[in-house]
Amino acid sequence: MAKTKTLYVCQQCGSSAVKWMGKCPSCGAWNSFVEEVVEKVKSNPNVHGVKDGEIVALDSLNPEVLTRLVTPDEELNRVLGGGIVPGSVILLGGEPGIGKSTILLQLALECKGIKLLYVSGEESLNQIKLRANRVGLTNPDCFIVAETVLENILEAAKKVEPDIIIVDSIQTVSSLEIDSSPGSIPQIRESTAGLIQFAKKSHTAIFLIGHITKEGYIAGPKILEHMVDTVLYFEGDRHYNYRILRTMKNRFGSVAEIGIYEMGDKGLIPIKNPSEILLTTRNEALSGISIAATLEGIRPMLIEIQALVSPSPYSTPQRTTTGFDAKRLSMLLAVLEKRCGMRINIYDVFLNIAGGLKVEEPAIDLAVVTSLASSYHDISLPMDCCFAGEIGLSGEIRPVNQIETRISEAEKLGFKTFYLSSYNKKSISRKFDGIQLVFVDTVEKLLSELFS
Ligand code: TYD
Ligand code: MG
Repeated sequence: MAKTKTLYVCQQCGSSAVKWMGKCPSCGAWNSFVEEVVEKVKSNPNVHGVKDGEIVALDSLNPEVLTRLVTPDEELNRVLGGGIVPGSVILLGGEPGIGKSTILLQLALECKGIKLLYVSGEESLNQIKLRANRVGLTNPDCFIVAETVLENILEAAKKVEPDIIIVDSIQTVSSLEIDSSPGSIPQIRESTAGLIQFAKKSHTAIFLIGHITKEGYIAGPKILEHMVDTVLYFEGDRHYNYRILRTMKNRFGSVAEIGIYEMGDKGLIPIKNPSEILLTTRNEALSGISIAATLEGIRPMLIEIQALVSPSPYSTPQRTTTGFDAKRLSMLLAVLEKRCGMRINIYDVFLNIAGGLKVEEPAIDLAVVTSLASSYHDISLPMDCCFAGEIGLSGEIRPVNQIETRISEAEKLGFKTFYLSSYNKKSISRKFDGIQLVFVDTVEKLLSELFS
């Protein structure tokens, strides 16, 4: 009897070896080798529909100009660079339960006049219908099939001839040609290659939903992200309703764009004006609250930073942050301690970015220190002022990029004073009438101006 052929495959990078190894020699990952049955691995070199070996002059090519499919979801269009490019393959990753299936089912139901095929490998047709009822949409051009075998999916796609295929999820798809289990590296690689080949030949756009690992990477070989045209991540905090759609790679557009949605009872609602929602409506000024003018991608956004600085009952005070880097907070506290003479080391510090957002941009530093100082002194900041500036170790306030965009957003939302770095002066060419610009160069000077 023929012996089953097995190989050990690194679950991180997909490299294989005959024997198990503790450390992958090609990517250096530990404990990543898993035994897989491989009887027939048929590789698909012709993934992108290019004829092998044909040499042509670049100038002689006359590519068809494909018009993008513009969907009713403006956030998604923007994130993709102006709509869906026919024949492109888009990978959508995200935590379980964040709303990947919901956003794409909604897309499928909203796109009237565009033929869609929704391939479900995870949920039954009934479950999908229930979700469709929940979001309250119907679309006669949307077809669904519960199928996990690649060959059958392609067969169904040939029958329906859709403009867009949605595969939920790529980890459940397996090809009959390979003998390893669904979700394994060879299966994900072959299924993706098969789907990409179909997309390029038939000019069908394909969305692939991808699970992510506990480290936050899309499960499967890294090569998956190289193979597809666009990689999107859907993220957000489970305890809040906001969701952000972010581009990680886009062969047909910028990666700086984001889309913002709110998950409600009836599905996801695109949010056109995020600042208006992220700023909590307050009637009176409260201590510990400061507003940062930040950028998410290229979109300006005003967000609320909340700080609580209170005497600590313990000898080692607590530092707790939500949505902000804890190490960055320690650095800013050290600056306040050393440069501004604040005795922070006997206080517990809690810092929170409202709305469950995570912000990594250093431009919010200035709002963070002013919220901390406001809580420390128990003096509230005026409600109509906001901040943008990065803070250096010596307490200097550094300039930030796209300052005019930030100021315009603040002006539009009715803010009256904008604190920014003196070094930003030369990057402002426009005149702002409705908002006063206050240039500051060190944290020390700013805090004594605000709180003395
Ligand atoms: P889902 O799209 O199934 O997530 P994923 O495919 O990323 O795993 O989203 C499921 C979550 O969204 C679930 O917790 C329920 C919630 N939800 C709503 O709050 N409102 C809705 O209208 C829908 C359809 C789902
Ligand atoms: Mg799902």
